[in-house]
Amino acid sequence: MRTKIIAGNWKMNTSLADAHILATGVRDGVEHIERIETILCPPSIWLASVAHDIVQKGQYPHLHLGAQNMYYEDAGAFTGEISPVMVKEVAEYVILGHSERTHVFGESIELINNKVHASLAHGITPILCVGEDDQTETSKQIVLDTLRKLLDGVSEEDIKKVVVAYEPVWAIGTGKAATPEYAQEVIGYLREILSSDTRILYGGSANDENAKSYLSQPDIDGLLIGGASLKLKVFLTMCQIADDIGQDLGHQSLHS
Ligand code: 13P
Repeated sequence: MRTKIIAGNWKMNTSLADAHILATGVRDGVEHIERIETILCPPSIWLASVAHDIVQKGQYPHLHLGAQNMYYEDAGAFTGEISPVMVKEVAEYVILGHSERTHVFGESIELINNKVHASLAHGITPILCVGEDDQTETSKQIVLDTLRKLLDGVSEEDIKKVVVAYEPVWAIGTGKAATPEYAQEVIGYLREILSSDTRILYGGSANDENAKSYLSQPDIDGLLIGGASLKLKVFLTMCQIADDIGQDLGHQSLHS
């Protein structure tokens, strides 16, 4: 059974005060939402502070932190970057290869692949993003080919640990979410090169109204949420929906 994931990618949003309010609100709101994993990915400058807000040892084992990006070297003269060694001190996940990293900052597949290897080597779970720019007849194949390259050299054992996020670029921040059937079709196709244990998320204009339709698909194991993750009530509703679906599937509490 693949435990469902609800992950909030806050992108370059929130003041320190807002981050504190949002993080503690989620912490308190998911206290009894234990059949899923909830992951918060604040801006890197707030990671340590949010870690302090939410990670009180053993108390919230189903709530996790993720970085939005990192470099692959451990340390050195890389101005403006954060390293896996740093991320590991405060977070368990890292988003890699987000389309905003590739489109706005020009990250290459090779660079992202290096980061995937570095995260796994340091025991940080990558949330590896992949998605096509436009929806065409060849989309599925393009996404699959890209994913293969992003995972080049990753062992079968490690592929089980990776979380893949299918984020069609045309659906991100546009309000034009992919239909659940289309997302399932692509994600089901990606699963062919992954393990049945690998969790695959959908991302792109997901919200509290469409969450259930995605989470009910057989191969969609969760959501990577941008805009809607900044709205506490909406985000918590999405967590509850995922938890309820976990219950319908007969999933036991992770920690009972
Ligand atoms: P939106 O949910 O705002 O479309 O963003 C999706 C995303 O990019 C999450 O990483």
